[in-house]
Amino acid sequence: MIQELLDKVKNNKFTLGVLGLGRVGLPFAATFAHHGIKVLGADINKSHIEKILSGKAPFKDVHLEDFIKETVSNKNLIPTTDTSMVIKNSDIIVITVGTPINNSLQPDYSQLISVLDEIAKQDIKNKLVVMRSTSSPGTLEGLVRNTLEKKTGLVEGKDFLLAACPERIVEGKATIELYEVPEMIGGIQEGTNNIVEALFKKLDSKKEVIRVKPEEAELAKLFTNVYRYVNFALANEFAMIANEYGLDAHRVIDAANFKYKRGPIPKPGLVGGPCLTKDGYFMSHGMTHSDFILLAWKINEHLPYYIVNQMKKEMANLNLDINKSKIGILGLTFKSGSDNLIHSPSKKIVDIVGAFNDKIKVHDPYIPDTYALGETLDGSDVVILATNHPEFKDLEDKIEKSRCKLLVDCWGMLDPSKFEKVKYIGFGRVV
Ligand SMILES: NC(=O)c1ccc[n+]([C@@H]2O[C@H](COP(=O)([O-])OP(=O)(O)OC[C@H]3O[C@@H](n4cnc5c(N)ncnc54)[C@H](O)[C@@H]3O)[C@@H](O)[C@H]2O)c1
Repeated sequence: MIQELLDKVKNNKFTLGVLGLGRVGLPFAATFAHHGIKVLGADINKSHIEKILSGKAPFKDVHLEDFIKETVSNKNLIPTTDTSMVIKNSDIIVITVGTPINNSLQPDYSQLISVLDEIAKQDIKNKLVVMRSTSSPGTLEGLVRNTLEKKTGLVEGKDFLLAACPERIVEGKATIELYEVPEMIGGIQEGTNNIVEALFKKLDSKKEVIRVKPEEAELAKLFTNVYRYVNFALANEFAMIANEYGLDAHRVIDAANFKYKRGPIPKPGLVGGPCLTKDGYFMSHGMTHSDFILLAWKINEHLPYYIVNQMKKEMANLNLDINKSKIGILGLTFKSGSDNLIHSPSKKIVDIVGAFNDKIKVHDPYIPDTYALGETLDGSDVVILATNHPEFKDLEDKIEKSRCKLLVDCWGMLDPSKFEKVKYIGFGRVV
């Protein structure tokens, strides 16, 4: 079975099935289709599929719309809501459904379970199923293998194959990073790794891979994200410590990083999003010693409150009524250049401010139906720069000329020296 599937991949005589055409699955499917692979992609969201069929990308990713236009029209990519058709007709099935956390901060595998049920309804003999979604260590060899073996009566390694190969792209650049980011491949059978490696070499023969156990791949993915998350939390703690010393954290971090080989220390700022916010909970799922991750979570989740409290103090100094002043918020999405609102700390700022003030205007160039920039600036006594979108660089002059009296820069991205009329406060900044 392994050799047969490997030959099919090497000779381009295989069909790739992708289950879940979201921010991971769609760029994945479109990128492989762009390389001439026959790709069948399924999603249960009908309007999403209609959009893709019309040649449009449902969200931002660098080359995504171009790849969709090309591959939907040449039929290398067939997007559909018919999950069973995709499973039936694919040699390799890649699972890319969402794995969020629920209200109790536990992994929510409902999408994964529903897709496993669909897979188990079909004959998966001689097929390879690759788990690309983020999961707690042990999910492939536990939930995935157990469900498929129990429901199909088939045996992994004898009748079908399984591998973990978690996605590590940065959201919005998947169509670039799929070529660049090394793959961590964890097939249950050693030979399965050859197939997964051959698959990724279709994108670039120089694509780097490392072979590990399935659980190691799952945990390494979580280490990747949690390491970043904790580092961002530490940078935020550094900013608060620098503030206590009356020092500008940006200048201190620049000095610490200057031509220094070990590092760099990241700059402080709001942290959130669909991956970083939740992956710590996947890592510590079932563990009793997750204090470090929880501490990082507490710092990052507390930051929007910290910044709003700083704003309130400054408003009091300027005799601005916190309930009645008009407040403009620049940015709603979770990070620079993104159109994703999931676990967005900027949205959290809007909610916190909205609890005591109903005169808020929000502008985000990536979110339709928000206010225009000019309208937001001209109509506001206080402006909060919440998301560090590139469009907000060099806004000093416009803000200085607006009616704004107080600017709250959550990223310290604007130049305080360019404000005379406007009072500037920035997270990590001392003016
Ligand atoms: N977004 C990122 O940047 C990123 C990066 C690395 C890893 N990940 C991980 O990749 C996985 C997918 O994330 P995402 O951001 O693409 O999620 P997403 O919510 O954007 O996409 C998931 C898609 O799966 C579809 N779906 C749900 N159940 C289905 C079913 N039974 N059959 C077919 N389709 C179904 C949904 O309709 C949705 O379109 C998650 O585990 C996530 O943690 C995400």
